[in-house]
Amino acid sequence: MVSRKKLLMGNWKMNHTISDTISFSKAINDFNLVDVASKKGIILAIAPTYLSLDTLKKNAKGLIVSSQDCHYASHGAFTSSISVDMLKEIGVTWSIIGHSEKRQYEGETDLDCNRKIKTLLDNDFTAVYCVGETSKEYDDNLTKDVILSQVRTGLQNIDSSKAKNVVIAYEPVWSIGTGKNASKEIAQDICSYIRSIIKDMFNKDVADNMLILYGGSVKPENIHDYLACSDVDGALVGGASLKADSFKALVDNI
Ligand code: PGA
Repeated sequence: MVSRKKLLMGNWKMNHTISDTISFSKAINDFNLVDVASKKGIILAIAPTYLSLDTLKKNAKGLIVSSQDCHYASHGAFTSSISVDMLKEIGVTWSIIGHSEKRQYEGETDLDCNRKIKTLLDNDFTAVYCVGETSKEYDDNLTKDVILSQVRTGLQNIDSSKAKNVVIAYEPVWSIGTGKNASKEIAQDICSYIRSIIKDMFNKDVADNMLILYGGSVKPENIHDYLACSDVDGALVGGASLKADSFKALVDNI
């Protein structure tokens, strides 16, 4: 069996000002959290708002700093968007793509995600691609159909050599911010299903090495159960990543 590293990634969404970001950075530096996590084989990442990317990068020692989105184009008339070159300039080389809030509120499609992921991979970024079914799709037993089409379209026309820089986060929409976290059995079943899709699309090596995360109401009290599943390599965490104490508790409990 391949042994994969664990990834704990915080998604701050539209939370935390620059001064909040500085306080958070100081606290995790005081905990030596990146080193503590690294000794446990855990990589730590946080995706703050665009405004706080540079601050987090400069202040939180050793932490991977990720964007929450980025445009597929290198520049141009795309009001409010930012490009990979802008991220690169401040040393940010990770981006989340396809978060359900972008899909739900801004109509982002799997094809949009595919264009963005291709741009990221062409620029040697790591793309954290979010997939997940809505509550209705879950009730209608459509979870695996939805996941299959999101993964297939989102990652279409990507070379196997580049797919190694993709992380997939399985986040059932009904579990995000609701406190209704999916059971560890569901998380394992879907993450293992995603790995099998990756194997079919690319090859066994890419599938064996890809980090696949669970996300949706992950808390210090339940993170251990997910990370104990053989196909769940980490967690994408919203609410519980906002406070340094809680972020530390997530690391402690893995
Ligand atoms: P939550 O958010 O942990 O607050 O449920 C997860 C996410 O949206 O990535």
